[in-house]
Amino acid sequence: MATMTTAELPAIAGGTPAKQTPYGSERRYGEEELGELEEALNQGTLFYAQGKKVHQLETEFAAKNGVAFAVATSSGTAAIHAALIAAGISPGDEVIVSPITDMGSVVPILYQGAAPVFADLHPHTYTLDPAAVEAAITPQTRAILAVHLAGNACAMDELMAIAARHNIVVVEDCAQAFGATYRGRPIGAIGAIGCFSYNEFKHISCGDGGLAVTNDAPLALRLRLATDKCYNRTAQGAERNPTFLANNYRMTELQGAVAVAQLKKLDDIVARRRRWCDALSAQLVDVPGIDLPQITPGCESSWWFYMLRVRPGELGADAGEFAAALQAEGLRASAHYIGHCIYEYPIFVEHSAFERGEHAYMRRAYGKGLCPQAEAILETCVMLAINQAYTETDLAETVRGVRRVAAWFAGKQ
Ligand SMILES: Cc1ncc(COP(=O)(O)O)c(C=O)c1O
Repeated sequence: MATMTTAELPAIAGGTPAKQTPYGSERRYGEEELGELEEALNQGTLFYAQGKKVHQLETEFAAKNGVAFAVATSSGTAAIHAALIAAGISPGDEVIVSPITDMGSVVPILYQGAAPVFADLHPHTYTLDPAAVEAAITPQTRAILAVHLAGNACAMDELMAIAARHNIVVVEDCAQAFGATYRGRPIGAIGAIGCFSYNEFKHISCGDGGLAVTNDAPLALRLRLATDKCYNRTAQGAERNPTFLANNYRMTELQGAVAVAQLKKLDDIVARRRRWCDALSAQLVDVPGIDLPQITPGCESSWWFYMLRVRPGELGADAGEFAAALQAEGLRASAHYIGHCIYEYPIFVEHSAFERGEHAYMRRAYGKGLCPQAEAILETCVMLAINQAYTETDLAETVRGVRRVAAWFAGKQ
């Protein structure tokens, strides 16, 4: 400590904050979206089955992802629900899922009357540990919901091999991983169905929306029915009538119009995020006491957020202290991501999904201790926000802030 000059002191110790300039930013929606919206309104209908925008989105999205079919939905959660319906997930079934995700991954499992089974994660890729997945399989297991967290793919080769061995399906949750690839293939095209979210906070957005993609024609038809109350709008007479339970998860032409324009921006957005995050990792790689995120072998991440972990014993600070010091530097940082594993939420611990009645998940005990690696990740993680508009200056200031804070905590030990 004695050797540190004031300039090197972190802001929490009276130094000048590392972040001296506003973060780079850019307008998310512009002329392209306005043009598409105008066309949609001029169609005289905003209903997907009569208009052109949602169909255009589906065609272009499928082509971009190297799959035969894409079905648009009202949200990412709706896409996952439609996928589980299409895959035939039914009451009493079990679906294996990640404990660190959004409720949107889990709500559809519960709505199908199935029980979410949480499998532990790889400590540094933050995605499903294949060995834990295989250990969680029972005769009731029907699907693995592979959540590609923060833009990084699950170990899909391993998960697909497990699924084949046990005759179960893999549904990919790509909500955080638009534009990521795995062994050269777009994610979402590897499992039976891939699900995407177009919500306001994702790589690209139409406010709210989603898509489910597949290469399987019968699954594609079931996906469509699963988003439209099971009305078969391409059939006539009695063929049109619903045969299974499905919600209204339709995307409107307004969402479709914005989504079409946004899809054109995806490659550039992902490329810029990759450049920024790869440079960040390269410049932080030697900082003692922190573990940088690891990318799953074979994956090219699309970086939705940047999440590192602290080793408090070595760093001299826990995640909360480290994040607070980074915030004092003017950096967009926060600790603990979702706070607790999904299975620690009251809806699971107290089995409070419904007021009354029986549900398969009520026969399982949920709560702390189920997935030790995932719990340790949340205890020690610090998230750095990222955006494609972040500049070289943002990068330099971020690196400077992280390094000087880490050096200061280390020096205090
Ligand atoms: C991993 C994951 N899955 C599913 C969802 C649900 O998407 P949506 O908010 O579009 O319903 C999200 C959204 O945050 C997510 O991050």
